[in-house]
Amino acid sequence: MPHTYEAKTFTLPPLEGISDESVKQHIGLYEGYVKNFNSMTALAGELMKEPEKNALAVAELMRRRSFEFGGMRLHEIYFPQFAEGARTLDENSALGKALAAQYGKAEHAIAEVRAVAGLRGPGWSLLYWDPAGKQFLVGFTGEQHQGHFATLPIVLALDVWEHAHLLDYGAAGRGKYVDAFFKNLNWGVPEQRFETLA
Ligand SMILES: [Fe+2]
Repeated sequence: MPHTYEAKTFTLPPLEGISDESVKQHIGLYEGYVKNFNSMTALAGELMKEPEKNALAVAELMRRRSFEFGGMRLHEIYFPQFAEGARTLDENSALGKALAAQYGKAEHAIAEVRAVAGLRGPGWSLLYWDPAGKQFLVGFTGEQHQGHFATLPIVLALDVWEHAHLLDYGAAGRGKYVDAFFKNLNWGVPEQRFETLA
């Protein structure tokens, strides 16, 4: 029997510039990814009982299922970043030091994450750490599952799908939402993630 994933609950403080209603709707979308991944997994199992007959359906399902998985996992990285309230980056933390070592100043890395967040189309601006190359990489995944640096752990995840800002700032309000994201970000969370990687 395949594992059934449970939607996580996120305890977030009130956010500045990101409304409770927006967070509520966003978490609802996250729960949809979990639900869809589970139902697609179950369906794939059924269809694969007759793989030749269902070849086209299986092919499409396999491609789309990783979209749902990406939506599930990325939001599980995203929401906890607001937990326990905003905190600035500790320049003396392992993350602060490593960002400064690579980019000169940590702010330059943040500027790159922000620049990538401004790329056209839905997706995520992601800060990865490559343990083999001992460097950060900033990437953009359109949708939820494509464009990733395969296998690299994610230190910081910034959702820039329209659903993240539509309610509070409208379709053209991505920049204001990105400002609000960084205003509310608890850097303690990516710092802790990096502790386990460095
Ligand atoms: Fe999202």
